[in-house]
Amino acid sequence: MIHQKFIFETPASITIQQHILQDQQRFPGASGEFSFLLSAITLATKKIQAKVRSAGLIDILGAHGVENVQGEIQQKLDVYANEAMIHCLASRPSVGVLASEENEQPLVMPHLSPSAKYAVVFDPLDGSSNIDVNVSVGTTFSIFRRPDGADFEDPNAWVLQPGNKQISAGYVVYGSSTVMVYTVGNGVHGFTLDPNVGAYVLSHENMKMPEQGSCYSVNEAYANNFPPEYGAFIQSLRDGALGHSYKSRYIGSLVADFHRTLLRGGIFMYPPNKTHSEGKLRLLYEANPIAMIAEQAGGRATDSNQRILDIKPTGVHQRCPLIVGSKLEMEAFEKLCQ
Ligand code: AHG
Ligand code: MN
Ligand code: MN
Repeated sequence: MIHQKFIFETPASITIQQHILQDQQRFPGASGEFSFLLSAITLATKKIQAKVRSAGLIDILGAHGVENVQGEIQQKLDVYANEAMIHCLASRPSVGVLASEENEQPLVMPHLSPSAKYAVVFDPLDGSSNIDVNVSVGTTFSIFRRPDGADFEDPNAWVLQPGNKQISAGYVVYGSSTVMVYTVGNGVHGFTLDPNVGAYVLSHENMKMPEQGSCYSVNEAYANNFPPEYGAFIQSLRDGALGHSYKSRYIGSLVADFHRTLLRGGIFMYPPNKTHSEGKLRLLYEANPIAMIAEQAGGRATDSNQRILDIKPTGVHQRCPLIVGSKLEMEAFEKLCQ
């Protein structure tokens, strides 16, 4: 009898596909196209994580030797990850346009299906500089509905939408385990890849960012060129102005630095600096998905003037300052900026 009790008491393993389908039931008549789209992303990230996990054993480390649109030397894994995302997503007739950090222009899907209703924007491999030294990297994605009247002649119209129009956003962090975190606008859920079965299994249901943390995350090497409010804010954290002292953690992969902030609270900042007057991070496929997840989990995300999600993009690769984290730290920073 105990054995039976145990079986029925332990929570059943819910895979991400089951979770999405359950969620779709909130929309009667949902066609299942959206869950089919998300399954393309989960498939692509499983292919990417397989390469990340064996990077040292196969010829996937190191630079690909080509400069990308960002003027950065593409790593081989950037190229592989980008092709995996494009390949998997291009097979979904509901996807009309893709935009990637690794492609200068948005990509119009060759099927040109008139029923295509989504655009997907992504950073196939975030934190590339960390690949060769075996530090966590990630993938980010952001999903928009095709704007009314948008056709394939103007793919920019599909993707240059403010973050508050995202219908879904998320990331995968390839860390000590592979975790996918996503939202469709009603809460944030995390799924850990079970390598034995190759399925993402629900591990963090309804994630909430703590109201306050004890860690700030910024690349202090650029501190001399931060606008003054950033330095003053960091000093106030060091001085215990928010009630306790803070430690500093900076991994250099946005997805990993944010994932820690989501779980533990605190604040992540990428301010403007000498080389990047608007900050280094890109609005469409880094700041926006992270900001949607943060807000859905009770945190906040700004560019120091406005909500990230309210910024009207003018370019696929435009950059913006990103300050994201717990309610209390964000309120303190925003007050300093006024
Ligand atoms: P990517 O590898 O996709 O270009 O992104 C790297 C970004 C982001 O992941 C991280 O927060 C930031 O670069 C780190 O930049 P610094 O090395 O200048 O701190
Ligand atoms: Mn990135
Ligand atoms: Mn990248």
